Amino acid sequence: MSVHQATPAKKVTTHTLLAMKERGEKISMLTAYDFSMARILDEAGIDVLLVGDSASNVMAGYETTLPITLDHMIYHAQSVVRAVDRALVVVDLPFGTYQGNSRLALESAIRVMKESGAHALKLEGGQEIEESVKRILSAGIPIMGHLGLMPQSIFKYGTYTVRAKEEAEANKLIEDAKLLQDLGCFALVLEKIPAPLAQRVAKELQIPVIGIGAGNGVDGQVLVTQDMLGMTKGFQPRFLRRYLELFEAIKGATEAYIKDVKSVDFPNDQEQYK
Ligand code: KIV
Repeated sequence: MSVHQATPAKKVTTHTLLAMKERGEKISMLTAYDFSMARILDEAGIDVLLVGDSASNVMAGYETTLPITLDHMIYHAQSVVRAVDRALVVVDLPFGTYQGNSRLALESAIRVMKESGAHALKLEGGQEIEESVKRILSAGIPIMGHLGLMPQSIFKYGTYTVRAKEEAEANKLIEDAKLLQDLGCFALVLEKIPAPLAQRVAKELQIPVIGIGAGNGVDGQVLVTQDMLGMTKGFQPRFLRRYLELFEAIKGATEAYIKDVKSVDFPNDQEQYK
């Protein structure tokens, strides 16, 4: 039984997600990188928590996802796993830990699973990473694929604009999606591609397809939590819906605290030990 709840939560597994797709129930997914946020999101009932390598941008302030290391990802994943009762925890393998060397890929994958206690991994790419995907799956580690805009390849694309608008790239994406399903991936993320293409992929695949900037014809949605809560500034792509404006709210609270400290209004009589 969980230390947090009186009755144990029914845990989300990769099979739960497949069953959700089969009955047409949409899958909710958000990113999480730390204990406090993961506790809130899990208690709210989120289905999947992604320890995304977007931690490189959101938590560490880097421009891209490339600098984050395997050790950093394991640290974030451990914090999230400790917080979660119900959600499926998926961890991104970071750049440079699985591409082009399937032995290294398996070593990286085993480290994340053993040291963090997470439930599954996410890898960016299709046919280029086939050998790594096969080897990791052969060790019994579930994989979520990721196609479309792949931030780990940003220097190949040059921009973060919508992917697969041209027929050749769309066809490759469809082939890669089918390959990942045939290899045994349990789900697929499609990032920033035209909605009709994402809908077609979701229809043609049996595994759940989760979109970010990929329209509503897919089996679920994922957003970066700090974007969705309005904690990040100046990032407003068309696909992002902000549910709060936390940057301004936290800034306002901090300004009020500073004012109270300076004016010796805080702490008052009730807020000190006599
Ligand atoms: O790292 C991340 O946050 C992601 C999502 C955008 C899907 O991969």
